[in-house]
Amino acid sequence: MLVSATEMLQKAKAGHYAVGQFNINNLEWTKAILQTAQELNSPVILGVSEGAGKYMGGFRTVQAMVEAMDKEFKITVPVATHLDHGTYEGCYKCIKAGFTSIMFDGSHYAIEENVAKTTELVNVAHALGLSIEAEVGAIGGEEDGVIGKGECADPDECKAIADLGVDMLAAGIGNIHGKYPADWEGLSFETLDAIQKKTGTMPLVLHGGSGIPEEMVKKAITLGVSKVNVNTECQLAFADATRKYVEAGKDLEGKGFDPRKLLAPGFEAIKATVKDKMELFGSVGKA
Ligand code: 13P
Repeated sequence: MLVSATEMLQKAKAGHYAVGQFNINNLEWTKAILQTAQELNSPVILGVSEGAGKYMGGFRTVQAMVEAMDKEFKITVPVATHLDHGTYEGCYKCIKAGFTSIMFDGSHYAIEENVAKTTELVNVAHALGLSIEAEVGAIGGEEDGVIGKGECADPDECKAIADLGVDMLAAGIGNIHGKYPADWEGLSFETLDAIQKKTGTMPLVLHGGSGIPEEMVKKAITLGVSKVNVNTECQLAFADATRKYVEAGKDLEGKGFDPRKLLAPGFEAIKATVKDKMELFGSVGKA
């Protein structure tokens, strides 16, 4: 059931669990995530970066695929199609394509411009029933060729952006996209605590959810994180399972080269990863 992310995140915040945002890259990803959410009776957010959207044939193609699968697989759990790290232009493209949620990443603008653009997009999104995420403080690592430094957000700036009426707020707390380096210092719970104190009931978003130790994720959820974004772990699980299949020579046995067989282990690996995360985030049975 396609819906905006507003209600599922408010319920998560009140219930002290988090909803997973799993980024999609193609049909296998979408099907694996939707079916796992339905099997576990969990709400879910399908994240689409601008790069992945382009790769899949544009946001309209993505939205049409998700809508069709939602019907075909009789998905009854709440599902949001969400633009991940959207530019100003990308937000409008997704609104036109029928997405149910957008993220405007204005973190690289000066705070005044971030505020002005976020305000405009909040009004447009809400008038159409979409939810909107904003970001304060760059999240580190590399995503779609954009390298962020990874900094801790200023709690006062978080409050200023939260007050614009966004539905969820991504705030840097030392988290980074992609694999965490061996010398990573961990999440700054001090910053998270200060942000939550300033922003009250606002659902907070933890980007870079792959590779964060489980105990840190759990603690972040107790401090107000209601959405955790995961991309890299599903990609690694898919690649690992596919490599094992090929290295075992299974693609050379019978019709093992059939994409439905070749991609099956990777598909199952995504499902297993999503299941583990939903259990960790506490969203199982919360649809
Ligand atoms: P990871 O790829 O590190 O899981 O981050 C995903 C993310 O935050 C998407 O916005």
